[in-house]
Amino acid sequence: MTGEAPLTLDAGFTADPFPALAELLAGGPVRHVVLPDGSEHWAVSRYADAVRVLTDPRMGSEARRALTPAGAAPGRSHPGDHMMNGTLMDRDPPSHTRLRRLVGRMLAARVERMGPRIQEITDELLDALEGQQHADLVEALAFPLPIRVIGELLGVPHRDLPGLRRIGGDLLGFVTDQRSARDARATLSRTREYLALLIAAKRSRPGHDLLSELVAAQAADGRRISDDELLAMALLLLVGGHETTVQLIGTGVLTLLTHPRQLAALRRDPAALLPGTIDELLRFDGPTSPGLFRYTLDDVEVGGVTIPRGSRVLIVLGAANRDPRRFPHPDLFDIGRQDNPHVAFGHGAHFCLGARLARLEGRVAIGSLLKRFPDLRLAVEPDELTWRFASVRGPDTLPVELGAPR
Ligand code: HEM
Repeated sequence: MTGEAPLTLDAGFTADPFPALAELLAGGPVRHVVLPDGSEHWAVSRYADAVRVLTDPRMGSEARRALTPAGAAPGRSHPGDHMMNGTLMDRDPPSHTRLRRLVGRMLAARVERMGPRIQEITDELLDALEGQQHADLVEALAFPLPIRVIGELLGVPHRDLPGLRRIGGDLLGFVTDQRSARDARATLSRTREYLALLIAAKRSRPGHDLLSELVAAQAADGRRISDDELLAMALLLLVGGHETTVQLIGTGVLTLLTHPRQLAALRRDPAALLPGTIDELLRFDGPTSPGLFRYTLDDVEVGGVTIPRGSRVLIVLGAANRDPRRFPHPDLFDIGRQDNPHVAFGHGAHFCLGARLARLEGRVAIGSLLKRFPDLRLAVEPDELTWRFASVRGPDTLPVELGAPR
């Protein structure tokens, strides 16, 4: 394929992806990689190629359309089956365009008004930490804030949130063996059953939430969104709307605590530096650094290499975000970086619909935490932390010493 041996992305990759990302960037424009489930992909790593590929209509998102099941043993799943089947992320035009327009408008109007509520939830979570010396910030802040925000946005009752604790990890984890595949399928069907009941409840007793708004749009004109599409949308918003943001906050706080000069600069002038800090955190070590999947609907040339029609492609966002051809001193964490068009939220037709909400949550969570705890520090060595082995990367826990609150 490319003359180089395939690169295997194993658990070591999510624990410390940077050597592999550097290797990808140092090699040719396209490299063969093998994922934990044994599937092979053409990896695109350079920034310019990533941006080009993500705007190329010959690169489909709908796996089942692009990959033929030919050769699959009877009873085996379709080679394009994955957790996000049928969701907005897994669709191409025209259904992608129709659904994205519908939900995009609804989300934008709601996110506009969410700032004060995000601050209120954050303050409540930080209040609960006062008087404690130690905390795990994943458990205390990074997880509960985004799940409560997306829960309220969608209209998930507060009492149901603890039951959703593991869905992100289960659904976005890499499938490595039969057991993890079974666990993921079980979580998927449980979550879909739960969401079907929730949607039925919104039909009989609508609220002021986004799910009720989608149900109302369907009742007004059934062509706008079908039952299956509504369920898939609820699933994507619920999972995509919290898991990534958990990792932005978790990895973000960790990165700041391990870069004390940058942290001190941020503490001196948060109003000016916080927005740029969030984007630099996304570029430097973003939740989606392992990458995005696409499927070639035709032969596509990348950097002089032809990727044949019907291939799986992995666009390695973490590599693109550290490409020295685009970012000067890419391995430097610099919260004052001016020109920072990172691709942590993707690019093109599928650009993240929750980017504004995620940035807002990141700013409020990290800004409020630093303000409340001026002496915050890590309670373990960074290399003692464990990392999720998943397509969305982040630490399992973040033990800190809080110090006296302000
Ligand atoms: C799509 C990243 C937060 C909802 C995407 C994509 C990326 C991404 C890379 C593109 C997928 C692709 O091209 O295949 C992130 C990151 C986040 C974040 C890094 C947090 C730091 C959120 C939140 C929401 C959300 C909070 C919900 C409100 C979506 C949706 C899509 C999407 C609905 C699908 C868009 C489409 O396919 O047209 N996200 N996301 N995301 N994201 Fe996010």
